[in-house]
Amino acid sequence: MNLSHHLTHPVFKAVQQVADRKGVQAFAIGGFVRDLILERPCKDIDIVVEGSGIELAREVAKILKAGRVTVFKNFGTAMFHHHGVEVEFVGARKESYERGSRKPIVEDGTIEDDQNRRDFTINAMAIRLNATSPANAPSYGDLVDPFDGLQDIALKILRTPLDPNVTYSDDPLRMMRAVRFACQLNFKIESDSLQSIERNAKRLEIISRERIHVELNKMIMSEVPSVGFKLLFNTRLLHQFFPEMVALKGVERRNGIGHKDNFFHTIEVLDRISKNTDNLWLRWAAILHDIAKPPTKRFHPDLGWTFHGHEDRGARMVPKIFKRLKLPLDHQMKYVQKLVLLHLRPIALTQEEISDSAVRRLLSEAGDDIDDLMILARADITSKNEAKVERYLLNYDEVVKKLVEVEKKDGVRNFQPPVSGEEIMETFGIPPSRPIGDIKKAIKEAILDGDIPNEQEAARALMLELGAKMGLRPA
Ligand code: CTP
Repeated sequence: MNLSHHLTHPVFKAVQQVADRKGVQAFAIGGFVRDLILERPCKDIDIVVEGSGIELAREVAKILKAGRVTVFKNFGTAMFHHHGVEVEFVGARKESYERGSRKPIVEDGTIEDDQNRRDFTINAMAIRLNATSPANAPSYGDLVDPFDGLQDIALKILRTPLDPNVTYSDDPLRMMRAVRFACQLNFKIESDSLQSIERNAKRLEIISRERIHVELNKMIMSEVPSVGFKLLFNTRLLHQFFPEMVALKGVERRNGIGHKDNFFHTIEVLDRISKNTDNLWLRWAAILHDIAKPPTKRFHPDLGWTFHGHEDRGARMVPKIFKRLKLPLDHQMKYVQKLVLLHLRPIALTQEEISDSAVRRLLSEAGDDIDDLMILARADITSKNEAKVERYLLNYDEVVKKLVEVEKKDGVRNFQPPVSGEEIMETFGIPPSRPIGDIKKAIKEAILDGDIPNEQEAARALMLELGAKMGLRPA
């Protein structure tokens, strides 16, 4: 197969020119070739040369008048950006690994050696960039595919070039990559490979949590992320870094009463929310919304199974999980925590006569995340009974109507009390102290309950009244 007419980026012709002049063999390789064949958008280009990657990069960059070349001497790689694409150069390598470490012992090698040491057949394909092959036949654009990656693409199969036990123990991160690609590309992991992952799952322990979460997040951002989570669970990879999610699995029965399998419920919610959002952290909120169901589970002879307080306990579990997975601990984590904490509130609103004060409270607590909270609440309806789902969704339409109406009237979405702490201190001539907080809180409650309007005049009147009750007088 020849792919020369697909090689539209100017770097390829430039590589050909330099490689031919130097008499070295150069190839495009890896994810670039895979995505070209799959007709997925191209992100970066990897070039392998039987020789020095750094020298080739420097000369190619000169011809293209590309910007700065960044050299990583220790790795023997160099890269530059050109026409919006990152192009990386490396010498072909033969690698063998030391057990218990991802650090390879690197030796120069041929293109075959280099292809051998890659993760999957679909990632081991290369495209020849020299004008002619060593046998002197025209070769620019020829596919070099020793493991039949092309066929595996057609069959939608992930297979390792070597014995899977070797490929996965060389680099255990590849087990996560297998699951991620299976989920992202809708491919099957070939059965020997799958068994090898089950056998080697524990070796994930030598991989940094950062690398694990990069693969996990790519999986979560795919179209149907539940596929990935099922694979992670079945191979026991999930057990290595996310025991709280493993604990969601299973159904307990007592007195003939069972509860739903919260693992399946969670990944169903995740699939549902993924149809409506590309916000990674909102997807994480779906993953974690019921995370505290196992530790809060109780059986009541009258009520059956209950999970009281799982939203609150769940929100408190979020930091530990984020820390372990080395996910960002600032606003992203706080956002996930807030959604987990509030995830039951919209449903509570549908179960009562919707009062303005309940709506105001939710608006003031959710703030600008109210729309995301409603997306989560809608995704959380996973009944098999379609009529029931329909009815709940209609109820939510009512809640949203009410939210809009109340927000328009009262503007409490990003609630700022109309009387500030400074104003209270000035009015009564007192220093920072307990009564200030008490008065502020009472004013907020009164506004949210609808006892007074969200206006300064009414708030000041209440402040004076409360102050008087505490024995405070205007200074
Ligand atoms: N590779 C590998 N083992 C790894 C990581 C990468 O063998 N643990 C090889 C594969 O041949 C891969 C190439 O290095 O195609 C480039 O890796 P990377 O850029 O991380 O991933 P891509 O395959 O390009 O996929 P994506 O861009 O979707 O992350």
